[in-house]
Amino acid sequence: MSNNSRKILVTSALPYANGAIHLGHMLEYIQTDIWVRFQKQRGNTCTYVCADDTHGTPIMLKATQLGITEQQLIDQSSEEHQRDFKAFMINFDNYYSTHSDENRDFAADIYCKLRDAGHIAKKTITQAYDPEKQMFLPDRFVKGDCPKCDAKDQYGDNCESCGATYSPIELKNAYSAISGAKPIEKESEHYFFKLGDFEDFLRNWVDNHVQVQMRNKLNEWFEAGLQNWDISRDAPYWGFEIPDAPGKYFYVWLDAPVGYMASFKNWCDKNDTDFDEYWNKDSTTELYHFIGKDIAYFHSLFWPAMLEGAGLRKPSGVFCHGFVTVDGKKMSKSRGTFIMAETYLNHLRPEYLRYYFAAKLGSGLDDIDLNLEDFRLRVNADLVNKVINIASRCAGFIHKKFDGMLSPTLSEPALFQAAIDKSEIIANHYENREYAKAMREIMAIADSANQYIDAAEPWVLAKQEGSEQAVQDCCTMGINLFNIICSYLSPVLPQVSQDALDFLNLENYAWDNIKTPLLDHKINKFKPLMQRVEESKIAAILDETKKNLALQAATTPTVVKTPLQQEPIADTIEFSDFAKVDLRIVKIINAEHVKGANKLLQLTLDLDGETRNVFAGIKSAYKPEELIGKHTVMVANLATRTMKFGDSEGMVLAAGPGGEDIWILEPHQGAKPGMRVK
Ligand code: 2FM
Ligand code: ZN
Repeated sequence: MSNNSRKILVTSALPYANGAIHLGHMLEYIQTDIWVRFQKQRGNTCTYVCADDTHGTPIMLKATQLGITEQQLIDQSSEEHQRDFKAFMINFDNYYSTHSDENRDFAADIYCKLRDAGHIAKKTITQAYDPEKQMFLPDRFVKGDCPKCDAKDQYGDNCESCGATYSPIELKNAYSAISGAKPIEKESEHYFFKLGDFEDFLRNWVDNHVQVQMRNKLNEWFEAGLQNWDISRDAPYWGFEIPDAPGKYFYVWLDAPVGYMASFKNWCDKNDTDFDEYWNKDSTTELYHFIGKDIAYFHSLFWPAMLEGAGLRKPSGVFCHGFVTVDGKKMSKSRGTFIMAETYLNHLRPEYLRYYFAAKLGSGLDDIDLNLEDFRLRVNADLVNKVINIASRCAGFIHKKFDGMLSPTLSEPALFQAAIDKSEIIANHYENREYAKAMREIMAIADSANQYIDAAEPWVLAKQEGSEQAVQDCCTMGINLFNIICSYLSPVLPQVSQDALDFLNLENYAWDNIKTPLLDHKINKFKPLMQRVEESKIAAILDETKKNLALQAATTPTVVKTPLQQEPIADTIEFSDFAKVDLRIVKIINAEHVKGANKLLQLTLDLDGETRNVFAGIKSAYKPEELIGKHTVMVANLATRTMKFGDSEGMVLAAGPGGEDIWILEPHQGAKPGMRVK
């Protein structure tokens, strides 16, 4: 390691311990991992830490729901998250937990420093309280009718129907999403971080440490005025108790970013590294946080202000990225595009997605669309047909005809040099997180290599007597260009580049190693480094995703607006009554919107040759085209109902809390229309 190498600490956002990693998450970890691998390849000292974000009400409730302790839930999530990250080749130096001694100590220490410097205020506030569960309800856990437009079942902070924002107390017919009980208003003293104390510091800091687009957003927040930030929650709460306030806990977002420090401290202790050198106020090391644009407020205002108030160093940069969309739309459960990391990995190797994201990523906040057809075509065209093809076109000749030996000289030094000359341009693109630009430069080198081989035609030369040297020279050039390309791609494709190193009989891809051409050098037998992405694999991912979502829907208890008094369970029926319901498998042969109907779709059902017309209230969850061809279950002997839009000849079975989350029953593919469901 050279003495003038940079010392860099890098983080990705800490995933919550109550959910699995999905492809939306993976964009960020892939983006960060590429950057870290690049820094290491350049010879910098770069440490990448992360952790699970383990506190807060949702984690407490999920553990209760599963009948396990919070610690058990945290342990389970940590194992699953780390399994998925490892499979995606995310190379953390340390993966830790915010529920750790280090984090408790740092959070308490930062809080005490802020308090002693006068940056903490106390104020009594009124909040929604669940009298049954005896707990205060976070906004998202109060539901009811929108005070502006009366839309049903809206969350306590905003209406998904009209976009209004409000406080949970304003909801009509409010109910607790935990118990279903009607919330009452209750007072409690809360602790606040006085963000406004840091306005001058923050205005200055933001100007130099966040992306331009984000700066504009932050300026809007400055203009709106920096509000005090509520950092306490009342028991019962899963988190760290505030040192001087029994029964009060740090809000999860207070100790979450402190988790970056805790994870790094945990790593320092195991690796004989001076933690303070990285975190003291005047540190000359670099600190970068990669995050999604939705959590910029926490990282670009609260977090630097907390660090400033506690006398610690501030981030050198906060790098925000956009969201992942699938086929142009927000990832969605009802559309079946909410793809889990594990599901993807069951069918495709991680490097396809690493490359695709890299090929689309810039340094800005734009959303990245995972267009599944484009994904397949692009990976096949760029990686398989272009890059890997260079080696497969040249390796056989070198192996068979020259016992694996490359020529002693480069026949086209200018072509080699042109590829080397791109080194700093590509490095700058990586450094600036302009990966799409880097990929374009690299693919241009691959194009030039293929054009060179096309023109040289080693397969023709190989048949001509006396052209042996020309064949060896041409293939040596091709292999050298392949080597350069694999080195440039190694932050993105760690396994391909490792396999390339093994094939080329080389140690590693330190950034400048490629400047020495491979001459008079023995290489190993070539094994195909990457297969094409098949359409069937993508279909299998979508299919598995849909099945998982249906299973999840069927097994997740949904909190209903219980008050059993409000929606009493209907009178008991005898089995003989139930047996009157004739449930049949049907095939949906057509589905259409119904003009003038907000909730209905018109379904044409095939009941073993007989056609039924049914109006189903599932428009919020399904697009008609998604339904056509599916099997479902209908009540076949329901009396025909005459509706405004026509006669409904039966009913299809669907369940769910509403909105996007309604699922029709989907029997196994072997089901045939007309079969009786018992
Ligand atoms: O938004 C989230 O998923 C949070 N768990 C991110 C926390 S990042 C850091 F501050 F801990
Ligand atoms: Zn509304």
